Amino acid sequence: MSLEQCEKYTDSALRVGDADRYPQRVAGEFIGVVVSNDWVNKEYKHLVLKVHERALGTYAGQFFHLLCPTPDGAEVWMRRPMSVYRVDKKAGQLEFLYKCEGRGTRGMGMLAKGDEFNIAGPLGKGFKLDPAWKNIVVLGRGVGLATLAPLSQLAAEKKVGVTTILSARNPDVVMSKDLFESLGAKTVTVLDTDKSSDVANVSKIIEALIADKKADAFFTCGSSRLLKLMQQLGKKHGIPGQVAMEQIMVCGVGACYVCMRTFEIDGVKTLKRVCRDGPVFDMQTAVGW
Ligand code: FES
Repeated sequence: MSLEQCEKYTDSALRVGDADRYPQRVAGEFIGVVVSNDWVNKEYKHLVLKVHERALGTYAGQFFHLLCPTPDGAEVWMRRPMSVYRVDKKAGQLEFLYKCEGRGTRGMGMLAKGDEFNIAGPLGKGFKLDPAWKNIVVLGRGVGLATLAPLSQLAAEKKVGVTTILSARNPDVVMSKDLFESLGAKTVTVLDTDKSSDVANVSKIIEALIADKKADAFFTCGSSRLLKLMQQLGKKHGIPGQVAMEQIMVCGVGACYVCMRTFEIDGVKTLKRVCRDGPVFDMQTAVGW
């Protein structure tokens, strides 16, 4: 298949988004063409797809629903939701960073250069940067850092300073450090191997950033423990925050209610659809996972 064929997309595009908070974006079903699909370490792969320009209108924190190939000959029934890792508008490419662990992502891991890949999106509501914020703190763990990575692009465009705290089991699985740094973010790596990822130490790092006036807002993904920490510090210092929720999905567009999660707003517990109402939510409303 030639790269030109990636310009084919369905006409059944739908408008998603909420005009008050985000620009309206047209979602559609696209055929991407694999440019590369390489291992970045023993667990994660980096997929680069040439896509139609309409798929490049993705906002940081939005996701695509991926029709993964089968890894073993048996059918893969459901699409897999995956947040976008990076958008390269100049090259017309969309990138995903993913852990090869389930049937969908193992099938995705078999994609080779030139293969077609069916993706639907962009879907959901992403991160938002308030114009008053000059410096933000991004805290993530594991593959959650891939979800947070587009914030580095968004912040660079809006000239917002970023400090990213990258939490990982060991140095081999630290994700997205290069991308954050290439876009001007300061990074701090904390690991399980030397216990620097302990909540008490991460709390100390964030408190120092607050004292240094480098924390106008918090962003997190990938760890319930780190979410709780940011919620506590946010409440204590009056700092707003956003969390990208990870959740199993089926339809990805708000129709099936499989992705419901509990949120607490003004003391009242309520259920929301992660695919349609999120996946990015006000940090203080999230009940955790
Ligand atoms: Fe169907 Fe969210 S996955 S409503």
